[in-house]
Amino acid sequence: MTDRVVTAFAPATVSNVACGFDVLGFALERPGDEVSARLAPWGVRGIRIDAITGDAGRLPRDASRNTAGVAAQALLTAIGERRGVALSIAKGLPLSSGLGGSAASAAAAVVAVDALFDAHAPIEMLVTAAFEGERLGAGSAHLDNIAPAICGGFVLVRHPNPPDIVRLPIPSGLTAVVVHPDLEIETAKARALLGTTVPLGDAIRQWANLGALVDGLHRSDFALIARALEDTIAEPRRAPLVPGLAAIKRAALDAGALGCSLSGSGPSLFALCRGTDVAARIVEAMVRAVKAHIGGEPQAYISSIAPQGARVVSCVS
Ligand code: HSE
Repeated sequence: MTDRVVTAFAPATVSNVACGFDVLGFALERPGDEVSARLAPWGVRGIRIDAITGDAGRLPRDASRNTAGVAAQALLTAIGERRGVALSIAKGLPLSSGLGGSAASAAAAVVAVDALFDAHAPIEMLVTAAFEGERLGAGSAHLDNIAPAICGGFVLVRHPNPPDIVRLPIPSGLTAVVVHPDLEIETAKARALLGTTVPLGDAIRQWANLGALVDGLHRSDFALIARALEDTIAEPRRAPLVPGLAAIKRAALDAGALGCSLSGSGPSLFALCRGTDVAARIVEAMVRAVKAHIGGEPQAYISSIAPQGARVVSCVS
């Protein structure tokens, strides 16, 4: 155990999924973050962060201010472990991208620590510990990135704490396209735009769409999924943060997307479609539109809805 190094990977996640603000999310195959955990030297208590790569030096090295550090500490406390842990974090996800970067770091950290101690913590405990880290990273408490980052698949968070996570079916061929414009949006700032009240008509339309999307997933009804992929609450209020949002969405739909919206709080956008051929056409159209309206070099991904979430990828003694 003393020399063991356990590395876990957790994937990028698309949260909200248009009509499911704060309650829906799905996992991508890649990219993602990796966190390695090993026993800290004798006498070190709690979590220490030894190294972070891929963040250009921007993330806190102080474990009490780092998403992965806070999540790992919450798990140590939950499993009653008094020995200390040293973490190394490899950020594969861009910061403030809307791809669930803080959730991925938190999820990978708890899975690595759980495996280091052979704790076999129940999934609810892993989710609750990762939630503590995400709360720090996002400045608010929601599980729509954490739940798919840990569980994989397409999930509905019925209740965040204690977690009540509903796994939704994934219709065969359902494919995600994600485009990350060369922009950063802090979740806390994007949430500040939302205010605290929602007109009743917008709420009614949102929960009608959410129910329809869940039913569409259950019955592989792609036409219903397409009609349901509409956000009446967050996206309209956040649209000013992403120049050309309407045109980028139009480009995705014209290229064959079932729907397109912000991924989480943006600036990334996701589209859902049926099959990889149409996904390739959607990526091309979205990237062209993002370059025209935002500029820079967008990153683009095509992925199935990944059935597996955070997992151990290596264990070296
Ligand atoms: N549901 C959250 C939001 C996700 O849209 O603010 C951001 O991480």
